Amino acid sequence: MSSQSPRDINASRDIEAPVIAKASDTASDITNAKKLFIKTYGCQMNVYDSERMADVLSPIGYTAVDTPEDADLVVLNTCHIREKAAEKVYSELGRVRKMKEAKEAEGRGEMTVAVAGCVAQAEGEEIMRRAPVVDMVLGPQTYHKLPEMVAKVARAQGEVLETEFDTLEKFDGLPTSRDPKGFSAFLTIQEGCDKFCTFCVVPYTRGAEVSRSVDQIIAEARDLAKKGVREITLIGQNVNAYEADAPDGSGKWGLGALIRHVALIGGIDRIRFTTSHPRDMDDDLIKTLGDEPKLMPYLHLPIQAGSNKVLRAMNRGHTYAEYKELIAKIRAARPDIALSGDFIVGFPGETDADFEDTMKCVEEIGYGSSFSFKYSVRPGTPGATMPRQVDENVKSERLKRLQDLLYRQQTEFNHSLIGRTLNVLVEGVGRDGGQLFGRSPYLQGTHFDGDESLIGTIVPVTITGAGRNSLTGELA
Ligand code: 5AD
Ligand code: SF4
Repeated sequence: MSSQSPRDINASRDIEAPVIAKASDTASDITNAKKLFIKTYGCQMNVYDSERMADVLSPIGYTAVDTPEDADLVVLNTCHIREKAAEKVYSELGRVRKMKEAKEAEGRGEMTVAVAGCVAQAEGEEIMRRAPVVDMVLGPQTYHKLPEMVAKVARAQGEVLETEFDTLEKFDGLPTSRDPKGFSAFLTIQEGCDKFCTFCVVPYTRGAEVSRSVDQIIAEARDLAKKGVREITLIGQNVNAYEADAPDGSGKWGLGALIRHVALIGGIDRIRFTTSHPRDMDDDLIKTLGDEPKLMPYLHLPIQAGSNKVLRAMNRGHTYAEYKELIAKIRAARPDIALSGDFIVGFPGETDADFEDTMKCVEEIGYGSSFSFKYSVRPGTPGATMPRQVDENVKSERLKRLQDLLYRQQTEFNHSLIGRTLNVLVEGVGRDGGQLFGRSPYLQGTHFDGDESLIGTIVPVTITGAGRNSLTGELA
């Protein structure tokens, strides 16, 4: 799978889009509250991690702010998946340096600067060298140590670099209680990847596949439910590779068993999971997709390319025919399912005929949403040194053709929902007065008129209009 999977079915994935994590309000009760600004790039794993960083800093007095200028601690939680994402860190650090200098020159106190996430893991030493403004570099498995690292920097013990790999220690060290931001929450159940697709940095930045214990996940899910969360998205780089000891000692549980267990928690009405790898889509999970009404009819199952030759070069471990067969099985179990996928064009050696196979795959499978990218060379991955790298212009042309097709399918799918009544989880108010905003089972943002008292509930909405990116409707 992939580390980046859709939070928003319709947004063409701008994985560089920043998300701001807010620390617990309780921190503001503490005198001398310090200001924390976290900017998040990349996938849901980073969104989750940013929230957990805020949780872990809250007891030592940090409270979230929306802008970095006055922050005492600025954290950039970074993404390394494509070159453009990684380079953004350095330009952002240039802006942060100016803010830090201005703050300190104007006597508004010091600013500690931290780089977290996958760029930190992959390029820690280089960050320290290229950007002296950085006080702290911390890899994705070290967030539980943040208070300790902040204290070290405050004691003027110089720069701190933490890039240890111990996922289980991370989760053991994070507080079990969370401060959810709304009615839908991410919950990390698995981290890392053993698949080693030849284009991808994730196995190097996030390490080997590690699953959290069932008890820990259930405790976190219960806590979220208690705090009003109605929808949980179980996340992991390879979420369907989840495997942990059954709580009753009866063997191992996979993702299907875990989902059925989470579904027993009162208050949790919707469950999603992302991102899955076709190779780990086992029969029990497919059966759960068919049988568990709390599981939403939406599946992100990337294939990346349609040509068997390219799939082999990518080390995906399956053929196009196997993927197609799998989709048929999933659709038989859950006929109303909408599929989403990730695609890469211009992988080394991809010919025009190979690319046509990707187009044919999209035509045959049909996707309700998608994310598509030009291949980006990642140093240290096998793809980087493969012969027959594809010309950038050719990649651009292929991406344009592919996206024209994918976006047409997405628009058609959204149009096909007009006249149907869908359950919408109301997340907040819409842009226009009197309007509410929520998410359909298929994750589309949905606007309709209604009273604010409905926020946080699931209501039936009859769809009256559809664009490529969202739906409009009326309360049924
Ligand atoms: N170049 C382009 N896209 C990539 N992805 C991962 N690595 C690369 C790369 N080197 C895409 C894949 C993956 C998604 C998260 O990002 O499609 O599923
Ligand atoms: Fe997904 Fe492959 Fe990257 Fe693993 S190596 S995260 S399966 S794209």
